[in-house]
Amino acid sequence: MTQKLLIVAGDGIGPEIVGEAMKMLDVLQKDFGLALEIEHALIGGAAYDAQGEPLPDNTLALAREADAVLLGAVGGPQYDSLPREVRPERGLLRIRSELNLFANLRPAMLYSQLAGASTLKAEIVADLDIMIVRELTGGIYFGQPRGVRSTDSGEREGFNTLVYRESEIERIARAAFEIAMKRDKRLCSVDKANVLEVSELWREVVVGVSKDYPDVELSHMYVDNAAMQLVRAPKQFDVMVTGNMFGDILSDAAAMLTGSIGMLPSASLDEQGKGMYEPIHGSAPDIAGQGIANPLATILSIAMMLRYSFNRADLAAQVQAAVGAVLDQGLRTPDIHAEGMQRASTAQMGNAVVAALRKQL
Ligand code: IPM
Ligand code: MG
Repeated sequence: MTQKLLIVAGDGIGPEIVGEAMKMLDVLQKDFGLALEIEHALIGGAAYDAQGEPLPDNTLALAREADAVLLGAVGGPQYDSLPREVRPERGLLRIRSELNLFANLRPAMLYSQLAGASTLKAEIVADLDIMIVRELTGGIYFGQPRGVRSTDSGEREGFNTLVYRESEIERIARAAFEIAMKRDKRLCSVDKANVLEVSELWREVVVGVSKDYPDVELSHMYVDNAAMQLVRAPKQFDVMVTGNMFGDILSDAAAMLTGSIGMLPSASLDEQGKGMYEPIHGSAPDIAGQGIANPLATILSIAMMLRYSFNRADLAAQVQAAVGAVLDQGLRTPDIHAEGMQRASTAQMGNAVVAALRKQL
């Protein structure tokens, strides 16, 4: 069956890293029999420059038709002074919301070859393998009302709303339990139930869902403690589930445990398993165009796509093995470089992974 894939490279290093991912897709099609129909479209600042908005209608229409979307990154300093509605980030938030991609899977996995790249001691992070499941289409990111208004005394006040419906909590909890079932069967739900009513409801609903998953050991943690535990003893976690903003923050912290945010992929899924796949790092405008960005997070995002949207866990494992092989060879982009290793450019890294994948034929 031919799968439809939409590629939106976006801004900054987006086009460079997506370029390397496309080399992989090419090999997967030509040599591994993956049947793909690929389209390209604009998103973020690139879309604003060309079409006046960060998520043009034609991009959204193609994304709706696609079985999966591969996204590079969006944003850049040249867009920071634009009105909020047309900023690149708005395009990203809108595509997540329009496609109903409520379940954001952010694995934090440490490749043993990179244990030295973490800022934490090697024994704290060795063999780390955490999955953060972040709710992505609700919470304070989307809650109404929001805005900046004038108070009676004429002072301005900004406000946002943190709101979750039972049904939203239930579906993300279910997604997280399902993932826990396929892993070590431990789920930690992160909230702020000691302060927030919405977190109290979150906890209650998660406990309710847990009745359907008696094999999964459920625990609860306040978000401040979870942040501390992540840097103190991260290996205590298997799967974590949390709301949109807590998940945004904790996933950056978890990413850094692995040495480089340049290594980590993500999947954002709807209820049918359709997904958007993106590296969790951003557009890194400071290094864009220099050919030094790490393409591995994007390449690993393709592995997630193969696993979750295309049902090809076999190919996903092969892509992951190819990445492992390249790390074994000692190739390193600057973000993961260490003494004694061989410096590689974005393209050299991409080519090496492609070669390692072909070797598995
Ligand atoms: C992320 C990013 C986005 C978010 C930004 C770019 C809007 O930080 O994907 O984690 O906050 O969700
Ligand atoms: Mg973030």
